[in-house]
Amino acid sequence: MPQTELISLTVNGEPVTATVPVRRNLVDFLRNDLGLTGSHVGCEHGVCGACTIEVDGAMIRGCLMLTVQASGATVTTIEGLADSDRGADLRSAFEARNALQCGYCTPGMLASALEYVEAGGAADKAAIREHISGNYCRCTGYQAVVEAICDVIEGTT
Ligand code: FES
Ligand code: FES
Repeated sequence: MPQTELISLTVNGEPVTATVPVRRNLVDFLRNDLGLTGSHVGCEHGVCGACTIEVDGAMIRGCLMLTVQASGATVTTIEGLADSDRGADLRSAFEARNALQCGYCTPGMLASALEYVEAGGAADKAAIREHISGNYCRCTGYQAVVEAICDVIEGTT
């Protein structure tokens, strides 16, 4: 019988209380227990960025954080960002620039892009590439992603 713990947190503005195995990571909890499948799982080793989500205002790897560590935290997934309209300009720019193909990396990529834009990042393609370097994409070659982020910063979307 796995050890469990009762936790409470806020997910996309809603209070959540659950009893979870202490070894369950946060992205698995969000996907499998709460049905929030917008956060993807790729490597499960903190490398690919597919699981990037916001916890207490910081973008983190959902595969590297245990759910019990998020007790008391405020978590926002791609679904929450969409509901609150945060990043709507980025989503439009990604669509306009065709900055996604299979879409597997896209929720994490959008989260990292939003972190950059909301921090006041410059429309500097090298700096943007550096910022999203922890989000792997196997389809786009990144150029359209970088241009979409630049468009948002420059207000040309
Ligand atoms: S699944 Fe978390 S970084 Fe790859
Ligand atoms: S769009 Fe397919 S991995 Fe990025």
